[in-house]
Amino acid sequence: MAKTITFKVQAGGILRGEARVPGDKSISHRSIMLGSLAQGVTHVSGFLEAEDALSTLQAFRDMGVDIEGPVQGKLTIHGVGKQGLKAPEKPLYLGNSGTSMRLLSGLLAGQAFDSVLTGDKSLSGRPMKRVTEPLAKMGALIETTEQGTAPLHIKGRAGRLQGIDYVMPMASAQVKSCLLLAGMYAEGVTRVTEPAPTRDHTERMLAGFSYPVGKQGSEVSISAEGTLAATTIDVPSDISSAAFFLVGASIAQGSNIVLKHVGINPTRTGVIDILRLMGANITVLNERVVGGEPVADLQVTAGKLKGIDIPEALVPLAIDEFPVLFVAAACAEGQTRLTGAEELRVKESDRIQVMADGLQTLGVNAQPTPDGMIIQGGGIGAGTVESHGDHRIAMAFSIAGLRASGPIVIKDCENVNTSFPEFIDIAQALGLVLTCGQD
Ligand code: S3P
Repeated sequence: MAKTITFKVQAGGILRGEARVPGDKSISHRSIMLGSLAQGVTHVSGFLEAEDALSTLQAFRDMGVDIEGPVQGKLTIHGVGKQGLKAPEKPLYLGNSGTSMRLLSGLLAGQAFDSVLTGDKSLSGRPMKRVTEPLAKMGALIETTEQGTAPLHIKGRAGRLQGIDYVMPMASAQVKSCLLLAGMYAEGVTRVTEPAPTRDHTERMLAGFSYPVGKQGSEVSISAEGTLAATTIDVPSDISSAAFFLVGASIAQGSNIVLKHVGINPTRTGVIDILRLMGANITVLNERVVGGEPVADLQVTAGKLKGIDIPEALVPLAIDEFPVLFVAAACAEGQTRLTGAEELRVKESDRIQVMADGLQTLGVNAQPTPDGMIIQGGGIGAGTVESHGDHRIAMAFSIAGLRASGPIVIKDCENVNTSFPEFIDIAQALGLVLTCGQD
């Protein structure tokens, strides 16, 4: 059997100092996709050199795009133009990355060649009907398993996609982005309406590549009329990676940290809003705009957190941060209640069940519900928890160590490499006593 990575975190600790967490995963994926379809050479800096974004990069290399790097987060993408991708010789393997698979399904539906998308065990269990059904309405031909999961067999339907008006049943940036990418190859206008705001990196980056994209209230629209002009992209640090230390410094008495150059796009800052509602001390410093995305340094000092009912409007804006927010809730005074977050059940793992199981193992009163969790704040105990191969669960339980009564052992942590390979180094430098071993 393949070796698995186990993390062990000692109880206690204080976080101090400055850190720059790696590049934003969502923006890194999109930089490869749009840079590849552009005319001319796109230079990217701050690219996330982690498995998920590298899966997207490899997929475009497999479709004939010449991409130099990454070297210290720098890439040079020799764009082939909207019609310039070549048929891949084999299935495109996308590892653990839902974003790669869902966005690529839209992009590939309108190409002149067939393609197959595959992924690892977790990705092969994740729902793909949310993209294949609206794509079918556009005229796409995509075969899934009976359960609506990968592998996806995509027929190239160049010239045969039709724009649609689609009201998304769930707030999903991946579905929105998938349809916008398909809309770049469809006849007429494709309009996507979202039930609540979701991350808008695709729309911002399309505009950065001078591609026309419309926005009216909750509707985004696009058509095939346009070309992408190569540009320069500076990827900000990922607020979803920063989130572990936003919580860590908030819960560990005496902490004081500054996280540099963090993306604070308002469609991503739910974690700051939720922590502030809980009483955290987070100061936004040096706000600036870099390549169309707002960026700032975030200073965090320890606070006395209290339990809250998390406003449902903030859920899509913090969707990836709930594993670590549950840890914050376990350290707060009183009860925290999350509702309206059933999407958490279909992430890299069932994040409601897996976090509830782990928190209960550590002695926390955490009750899962179909669409969220109810957590009574109090102490965190010691113990061994399972991450189920989910990167964000592994990192969330590492942060729990700061307030635990004894060591926490976390199993199956190798997928931390999908989003944040430097996690251990940065966590140790800031003051977490975390070690890593192989089983
Ligand atoms: C992402 C969108 C979100 C998020 C994921 C990245 C993106 O997924 O959870 O980690 O880059 O568009 P959903 O769109 O499924 O909510």
